[in-house]
Amino acid sequence: MGSLFSSSISLRKSVRISDDEFLLLRDFIYEKSGIFVDVKRKYLFESRFSKHLGELGLSSFSDYIKYLKFDVKKAEELPRLFELVTTNETSFCRDLRQLDVFKVNVLDEILNEQRKAGKLELNIWSAGCSSGEEPYTLAILLHESLKRELPLWKIKITAVDLSRTMIEQAQKGVYGEYAFKTTSDDIRKKYFTKESEGWKVKPEVQKLVHFQQMNLNDSQSLKKVARSHIVFCRNVVIYFDEAMKKKVVGSFYDNLLPGGYLMLGHSETLHKISQAFKPLYHPGSIAYKKQG
Ligand SMILES: C[S@@+](CC[C@H](N)C(=O)[O-])C[C@H]1O[C@@H](n2cnc3c(N)ncnc32)[C@H](O)[C@@H]1O
Repeated sequence: MGSLFSSSISLRKSVRISDDEFLLLRDFIYEKSGIFVDVKRKYLFESRFSKHLGELGLSSFSDYIKYLKFDVKKAEELPRLFELVTTNETSFCRDLRQLDVFKVNVLDEILNEQRKAGKLELNIWSAGCSSGEEPYTLAILLHESLKRELPLWKIKITAVDLSRTMIEQAQKGVYGEYAFKTTSDDIRKKYFTKESEGWKVKPEVQKLVHFQQMNLNDSQSLKKVARSHIVFCRNVVIYFDEAMKKKVVGSFYDNLLPGGYLMLGHSETLHKISQAFKPLYHPGSIAYKKQG
């Protein structure tokens, strides 16, 4: 029974999307999230949405767009739409080269400045944190840097993502093998406990991170994030167009404390986006320092 049923699903024809439907859906997604879907990825909509349209009992993208705009359940549908359009790829200690640059050239400098000022406080914002691997990595880095000094510090890592499902997973803090593909066994053993479902992040790491569902397109919500010394936004703005990148980077600028740093993903840059940051070039990464 089971195999017959699953083969009938896999044989289900995908729902075709016309050019007009694609533009309408793309504009809707852009308006709600700032995510810009290039026309080259049009067929991705067909593969990603067909099953979901079937579940909703809809036979065309036109019907789905009406559903998104006018159905009584439209507010419930929005998170589902976001799940379908976002890419949540991530892992612990992702891009180790950049993290080394960050530790030596950014983190140590800020920690020393805070010590000199007698303010043992540090706020980091992980924007677009997916299932939590990035902010937990930052918490681990702080444990490794501060060691026995850590309990003296007031540390808050605010981690936000558009996807409610990702935030729920992050809060649970239990991970399978895939999440450790870029992580040494030593780190895994030191900061995680093996449980039946996977590896659970230890409480001393977990308590440094505060997760919240948040849309980077919603500038008003972003204003509620505590002022930060460092903003991490890696592999997120790649999905935005220039206008949205400018808007989000402007929010990061406003959030950062004087002399604070913005870290982007290795394929992302502020070129043509903002001149309000000084780019500090290091082998393997650029750190953007807030000017003024
Ligand atoms: C590829 S993951 C990157 C995760 C992590 N920063 C890293 O580099 O490993 C991109 C994340 O950005 C989130 N995202 C995309 N658009 C967003 C928006 N408008 N507001 C908040 N998060 C968003 C997605 O949900 C996804 O989890």
